[in-house]
Amino acid sequence: MTKTLIVSYTPRIGSYTKQLVDEFIKLASNKTEITFLDLTTSPPDLLLPDNLNIIWSKDESKYTKKEKKRLSNHTQLTQQVLDADIIVLASPMYNFSLPATVKAWIDAIVVNNKTFAFVEGVGFKGLCTDKKAIILAVAGGDYSSNQEEYFSSTIKKNFEYIGIPSKQVSAFGVTQYPENREVIIANAKKEISDLIDSYYA
Ligand SMILES: Cc1cc2nc3c(=O)[nH]c(=O)nc-3n(C[C@H](O)[C@H](O)[C@H](O)COP(=O)(O)O)c2cc1C
Repeated sequence: MTKTLIVSYTPRIGSYTKQLVDEFIKLASNKTEITFLDLTTSPPDLLLPDNLNIIWSKDESKYTKKEKKRLSNHTQLTQQVLDADIIVLASPMYNFSLPATVKAWIDAIVVNNKTFAFVEGVGFKGLCTDKKAIILAVAGGDYSSNQEEYFSSTIKKNFEYIGIPSKQVSAFGVTQYPENREVIIANAKKEISDLIDSYYA
């Protein structure tokens, strides 16, 4: 059976993103083995001097016991990605981009020689080439007519960088067009159903 990692950040009571996650779980749970990472209760360690300088200074094989312990949160988060076939990232848009907690997850899992590598003469290369990602995204505003937002491109680019192609289901405009909210969510749920049919065929 395929393995799916759901990475979910839905802190708001009544979250629409949570509705999309729940729909995904309802439709996919009999098709795949799900690991659920709730970033609201297990936020990733931020990159701060005491972990960043270990990561930056040496190869993993040279880490001391103490350094391994300091990096264990990032190691575990990266291993979850390496163990998954499909990664589902569910997040609202905050301030035109990713919420800081979701960005911290990306900062944790984009790891040299684990999820990407620098290859002499080739350049940077994603190492997660056997995986696919689905992004479940909710935004208050509607960005269909070329208003700038950096959520979609940031998450796509980072998955791409580690070798993972992604598809995004966007429920955008839920605050801007409250009269259309139900339709926007229903359309997103239909897209989730179609994606599950094609990803878990
Ligand atoms: C801190 C914060 C920042 C937000 N920034 C944006 C934004 O830049 N663009 C936007 O369209 N909506 C923004 N919103 C609105 C949310 O995207 C919207 O409320 C969405 O429904 C949140 O997802 P949720 O329903 O899962 O909580 C923001 C909301 C919060 C709480």
